[in-house]
Amino acid sequence: MGAMRYVHVSASGKINPALYVGDVREDGYHDLDIFFESLDIFDEIEARAVEGGEVSIVMQGAAGGVPCDDTNLAVRAARLLQERYGVTQGVELTITKRIPVAGGMAGGSADAAGALLACNELWELGLGRDELMELGAELGADVPFCLLGSLARASGKGEVLHSIQPGYLHFWTLLTFPEGLSTPEVFKRLDALREERGVHNSLEATREAADTLEELLGQPDNSAFAPYMANDLTEAVCALRPELGEILERISDMGLARIVSGAGPTIAILSEDYETANAVANHLIETVPEATIKRANGPAAGAHLRHSE
Ligand code: C5P
Repeated sequence: MGAMRYVHVSASGKINPALYVGDVREDGYHDLDIFFESLDIFDEIEARAVEGGEVSIVMQGAAGGVPCDDTNLAVRAARLLQERYGVTQGVELTITKRIPVAGGMAGGSADAAGALLACNELWELGLGRDELMELGAELGADVPFCLLGSLARASGKGEVLHSIQPGYLHFWTLLTFPEGLSTPEVFKRLDALREERGVHNSLEATREAADTLEELLGQPDNSAFAPYMANDLTEAVCALRPELGEILERISDMGLARIVSGAGPTIAILSEDYETANAVANHLIETVPEATIKRANGPAAGAHLRHSE
């Protein structure tokens, strides 16, 4: 078989059914006890081989605010593979964005995961998923999960993963907002809030709830885990974006189970079945006009190959 010229990968966005934040580590990251679920919202990553070592990128779709320079996480992923494996070929990346940017849904990490997978194919490096996940951890804490996909729980900074065999499908309604939040800023705000109060979380206090969540996620039920959804970053997110706290309250008053995903501002609402989720989405279009409402189901596949030639 001759060398690949073109590879197309789809990479899913995620939400976090729960996100517990522990103490700050020496490397500046926080220890986490974190759950990931891939959703059926995909970015498309297309990679075309070019002679010479250049890595270039074109972003299309809902990509407002994503840089096309060396700071783009997909570009960094391609460069990392080049450096580590002495690749002399280059790549032209085209990314079609559907995952909300800076929304707490790992859009940038999904693109990095997609670029790793696509370039591994394109340059015929023959790396397995575990090797790609290890490289991915160097790029960002969410990248390994974006390669793994489906449903998982992680410790460390989010890279020490184990899969959870999903019970049933989950029917989510997402509220996304035009303006993103900076993940480092959200973590910093949480540190400040905790310091103010002299509290911290060793992750011991929340372990039991997290263990229960893990058990419920594996059971054949669409929404039994709803009471165990939690996100330690919520308060920091609301401190930085006060109107979000008000919206969360409005949603709770409707009797809906909701969480902030990752470092926000995306809000995810869980419904017990498909029809209810669609009805909730329609209702929210009227009642929360400041958000964009999307339906999504999970768990979905992580980054995967669609086509190559
Ligand atoms: O690894 P990633 O680039 O996705 O993380 C973005 C930022 O989020 C980090 O620079 C850090 O400030 C914060 N973070 C953290 N602890 C984690 C994951 C992320 O403090 N476990």
